[in-house]
Amino acid sequence: MKAISIGLLGLGTVGSGVVQIIESHQDKLMHQIGCPIQIKKILVNDLTKERAVHIDRNMLTDNPEDVIYNPEVDVVIEVMGGIEKTREYLLQALKNKKQVITANKDLMALYGPELLEVATENGCDLFYEASVAGGIPILRGLVDGLSSDRITKMMGIVNGTTNFILTKMSKDGSAYEDVLKEAQDLGFAESDPTADVEGLDAARKMAILATLGFSMNVGLEDVSVEGITKISEEDLAYSKKLGYTMKLIGVASRSNDKVEVSVQPSLLPETHPLASVNNEYNAVYVYGEAVGETMFYGPGAGSLPTATAVVSDLVVALKNMRLGVNGRSAIAPQYPKALKGPEE
Ligand code: NDP
Ligand code: HSE
Repeated sequence: MKAISIGLLGLGTVGSGVVQIIESHQDKLMHQIGCPIQIKKILVNDLTKERAVHIDRNMLTDNPEDVIYNPEVDVVIEVMGGIEKTREYLLQALKNKKQVITANKDLMALYGPELLEVATENGCDLFYEASVAGGIPILRGLVDGLSSDRITKMMGIVNGTTNFILTKMSKDGSAYEDVLKEAQDLGFAESDPTADVEGLDAARKMAILATLGFSMNVGLEDVSVEGITKISEEDLAYSKKLGYTMKLIGVASRSNDKVEVSVQPSLLPETHPLASVNNEYNAVYVYGEAVGETMFYGPGAGSLPTATAVVSDLVVALKNMRLGVNGRSAIAPQYPKALKGPEE
């Protein structure tokens, strides 16, 4: 039975989790896809660095071509981050008929439509479940589970780092810089945490959610954004005294064809369901005209939770390969074909 070969771009927080899950869940994965999965090559920056997982060091390379042009690689998993260079790598991988999975919301919020189009043109799938809310299967929930409904509102906490910071600052009175450092050490924050604390990471995720939920292309430029950097320890202590909890909340709403998307710090009464979502956990409330209120909750960042979403995408990609339907699969979340923005 021929094994399916994977090429990894990145072996940091998420990449290490992917290696760990592929190894430790091999039996379950094999049962689902009918053949073993093997990791062939892994692109990293630093070949000498100590790694969080045990790997054959011959698999490591610092040459992207060893992954994206490798004839033995069937699926490329991108967990390195970055935008322009990464876009180039993934376009090349798709043109080389590799199935592609990414956890990269920065890339998807900017170049999602282009990458998905190139994937389809080349008979490939491009999956990106891990790009929004880490381990919560929110994208599949929207495009599969709620596909028959008309979604009018999504609201929630979609950034683990800022939720971790706000939780620790208000519960333990910890200092902002200390908790940010802790979130970085735990692998929740982006390599440049400015995107987390300034609300940009949450804005990118809200743009992806709004695009899929409302079937309308919503770009980053359509999202009004404010982060948490102006919030002081005193603000949090005072809100707590008044019975409120501060959260960084993303809201996307649609009425008729008008769409509004925002990310901003908000005071919630302590009894509000989102007020009890703590640490790196995320939660997204989704309202559909027929289903009514639904809530998706779980770990929004971290190695194994995020890797679960990545490897679950891998299972679907491999099932599609077995059926010969890559690029034609209804399972891969597609951006809407017509490039219709909220103002048009
Ligand atoms: P890390 O910084 O932990 O890991 C990045 C990995 O990619 C490292 O192994 C690094 O190599 C490698 N890398 C980065 N740039 C290059 C390059 N130009 N050439 C070669 N190798 C490169 O990032 P994360 O694992 O935290 O995040 C990866 C992606 O997943 C990002 O897009 C992030 O937004 C997304 N994501 C992260 C989550 C999380 O909880 N961390 C959750 C959801 C999504 P080296 O190790 O040698 O430095
Ligand atoms: N930096 C991101 C966060 C990682 O904290 O939510 C998950 O996308």
